This record gives sequence, structure tokens and C-alpha cells, in this order.
Amino acid sequence: MLVPLPGRRPLRIRELPGVHPLDPYAPDFAAQFRMPAGGSAWDLGCGAGLYGCAAAAFGAGRVLMTDTDPAAVSCALRNARRNGLAGVDGRVGSLFAPARGERFDLIMTSVPQLPAPGPVLRTRFGGPDGLEFFRPLARGAARRLRPGGRLYALVTGWAGPGRVRRLFLDHGLFARTVLAVERAFQPAEYEAMRPGLFDYLRSHAAGDPRAWRRDGSWSWLRVELLEARAGR
Ligand SMILES: C[S@@+](CC[C@H](N)C(=O)[O-])C[C@H]1O[C@@H](n2cnc3c(N)ncnc32)[C@H](O)[C@@H]1O
Repeated sequence: MLVPLPGRRPLRIRELPGVHPLDPYAPDFAAQFRMPAGGSAWDLGCGAGLYGCAAAAFGAGRVLMTDTDPAAVSCALRNARRNGLAGVDGRVGSLFAPARGERFDLIMTSVPQLPAPGPVLRTRFGGPDGLEFFRPLARGAARRLRPGGRLYALVTGWAGPGRVRRLFLDHGLFARTVLAVERAFQPAEYEAMRPGLFDYLRSHAAGDPRAWRRDGSWSWLRVELLEARAGR
């Protein structure tokens, strides 16, 4: 797949079976990263590695791509090589474990966050409230960011951008929405993962009228890119 980037050559990203496929809005989100020239970036939960490749293309001097899935890390590294990107490293491991004691100018992530009463697709399941991975992320991010560093996190309407912003704030991270998009869906997509899941999601998101909407025969899920910094 050719992924356009503002002011840069398009990235050639190849997806591997079993590795999370690129979300339709991922290229627009990657275009938002404000990468200081020669800085460092961590693509945490890299999947096919689009975020890390974009950071390298935007001038990062060093990029780390990590995932619990070794196939994702090797797919991401292959994509970096395919695009001739230098300074890119990959490691297997959970959340912050692969880079203990290291700090970055940017951390970019779209952690699994689909709320569900029990396990569904491994790359998407975020526990009963969708926040299972956001909690440790919020607790640990400030310690992994260099002064002035930014955490970019994709948050769907199901997990709730408002909930995630409050969680970040509890840990001294001030977040704003830099881009919001909508993705078309059919309830059947969720029912195929687990019968009854759409009703579960609907009641979970009931407190947030902007989380999703129905329009004719399609429904639309809101997806936001949050940019968080330690201190205002
Ligand atoms: C929704 S996918 C996003 C992948 C990629 N960032 C993208 O936008 O295409 C979530 C990724 O997080 C990885 N993952 C799941 N649990 C993880 C954990 N504890 N630590 C790091 N990565 C994890 C999954 O293997 C998957 O590749």
C-alpha cells in the first residue's frame, strides 16, 4: 500500500497476514506527528510499523518499533528497510518493557482498546472498559518522554477520548485532540467477533453522544488522535 505523507515521498507499507492491517485513518494520523529534526520516536504496538516509518521519514534520528507480536516487529522492520529509512530498531515486548530507562521525543501508539465482556481479537481487545492498556500507558508515559516530548495516542469512541484524557490528566499528562475522523461500520462487524458485542459497546458508550452515530443504513464511529504532554 502506498501511504502519502505531507512533504515527503509516499511510504510503501506491506502488511503481513496476522499483523494488524492499517486502519483507513492511520495515514492521516501519521501525517500529524510533529517530529523534531534528529529526535527520537517510539512506535509502541507497531503492527506493520506505519507510525515508526512516518517518524523516520519526518526526520527522526532514531526510531524504536516494539510489539508483543514478533511477526509485527519483523513486518515493521521490513517496511522501514523497504523505504530506505535509517536509524530504525525493533524489539519484542509488552508496553514499556522493551526500552527500560530510555526516553523519547515522541511516543506514538494505538494500543488494543475494544471494550468487550471477554477476549475478542488479540490485537484489539482492551478489557471490559477498553482502558486496560491506557492505564499503564498513562502511569508510565511521562517518565519515558524527554523534556517537551509528546505522546500521540489513537482513541476510538468505544474506549472514549474523554475517559482517556481524564486518565492522562490523573498522571500529569495534558492532552488535546489534534485530529478527529469517523469510520463507517455495520454492527455485524462486532457481532462476528462476539455475539452481543454491539449491544455491549452501545451501552458502554451511552454516556458519550459523540462516540458513534447512525446515519441511514450505516453507522459511524468517532476516532481521535490525542497529543499529550507532561505539563501545559
Ligand atoms: C490496533 S493494533 C495497531 C497497530 C499499529 N500501531 C497500527 O496503527 O496499524 C495494536 C497493536 O498492539 C500490539 N499489542 C498488543 N498488546 C500489546 C502490548 N502489551 N504491548 C505492546 N504492543 C501490544 C498488537 O500486537 C498490535 O500490533
